[in-house]
Amino acid sequence: MTTLYQEHLVVLQQRYQDAMAHFDLNAIVLATGGKCYYFQDDHTVPFHAYSGAQQWLPFTLGADTFVVLQAGQKPTLVWPIREDFWHAANPVPSGDWQKDWHIVPAKKDDQWFNSLPTNTAWLGPEPMPFAIPCDGLKAYVDFSKAVKTPFEIEAMRRASLRGATGHVAAEAAFLAGKSELEIHLAFLQASQQSAIQEPYPGIVGLNEHAAVLHYEHKATDHIPNARTLLIDAGANEHGYASDITRTFTRYEDDFRALVGDLDKIEKTLCQNAVTGVAFRDLHQQTLIGIAELLHEHKICALSVEEQLAKRIPQVFFPHGLGHLLGLQVHDVGGHQIDQVGTLRKPDEDAPFLRLTRTLEENMVITIEPGLYFIPMLIEKMQANIPQHGCDMTRIQHFMPYGGIRIEDNVVVKNTQPENLTRDAFEKRH
Ligand code: GLY
Ligand code: MN
Ligand code: MN
Repeated sequence: MTTLYQEHLVVLQQRYQDAMAHFDLNAIVLATGGKCYYFQDDHTVPFHAYSGAQQWLPFTLGADTFVVLQAGQKPTLVWPIREDFWHAANPVPSGDWQKDWHIVPAKKDDQWFNSLPTNTAWLGPEPMPFAIPCDGLKAYVDFSKAVKTPFEIEAMRRASLRGATGHVAAEAAFLAGKSELEIHLAFLQASQQSAIQEPYPGIVGLNEHAAVLHYEHKATDHIPNARTLLIDAGANEHGYASDITRTFTRYEDDFRALVGDLDKIEKTLCQNAVTGVAFRDLHQQTLIGIAELLHEHKICALSVEEQLAKRIPQVFFPHGLGHLLGLQVHDVGGHQIDQVGTLRKPDEDAPFLRLTRTLEENMVITIEPGLYFIPMLIEKMQANIPQHGCDMTRIQHFMPYGGIRIEDNVVVKNTQPENLTRDAFEKRH
């Protein structure tokens, strides 16, 4: 019986064989990369394997590991053997996956690459002296990474479940009056990971900190009865990420009503993530939804059309709707519209949009609308947009709540997208 992993390998082998034929190559070497030391220090930066190599194996890869591909042959895994008593031993993981691989244990100065054929190209963080660079190869393989195999989607289901488990614990810690640091620790414990294993540094902001898009501190002070918790944090499964944001509130008030209405918009956007839709159009739908929300909640008196003309929604929603998700949280190829590497840049109206492609079945994307009360942007609006129609008293009222973001991870389908995040939360309750 074939497993999801074996089917995944067949797909990858086909993609790379096509690439070898296209560029007239005899082999491709994918390197995870070497360890990187802090300046004048003997400690290393947390290691993340190059995603092109990680994609081939069902466990997390470390440094100095290579995947070697040759047409018509099983892939080869060159595995670093360490002879040192400072670190844990590094045995090759056991498992059925080995049946489909040649495994070459290599010591630091092994010359395993001497057996590579001519015309071997490399992809990885550093040049490999034994291989040739190949213009266009990276774009060629990156393009296809957007569409995930069933094996990859299953990994992301698991990453979503762990992430959602962490969010449930974070909400409880928030309601119990914990600090940002304590909430983050509760998230990590429940999602069973240390901070350096997170797919990206978790964002945990109380009150006004919820208005800082990439708030990176974890304050230790206890804020009695904090109003808002915005937590943007995920987990990973052999490198595949979940990227989840929730905004939790303490009080039954008009801010909670705003969160509820943004949640409805977000769910509709997730439903609309189907094959053939241009992601830029979904972003535009979001701007319209934000304008309606600002009007209904009496934040801006202008009509939707007037708001769009004056770019009022962008004051409150200054980032893109989402991005491709995979081994990299902001996965590669979001602006690429073909294998040759042609780019479609975002419109001037949405310069931060990381995804300009038309959606295809089994792409995995994030949908993450937000609505923030960011003092800098509100001051700029007051200075630069005449007759902005916004009620400054109402805005001052909302500022102490910070802002809202709701982010789900969605598998694009032809008719009914799969919402990995909502499904994971449902399993948690
Ligand atoms: N967590 C980063 C992002 O949502 O894109
Ligand atoms: Mn995201
Ligand atoms: Mn996020």
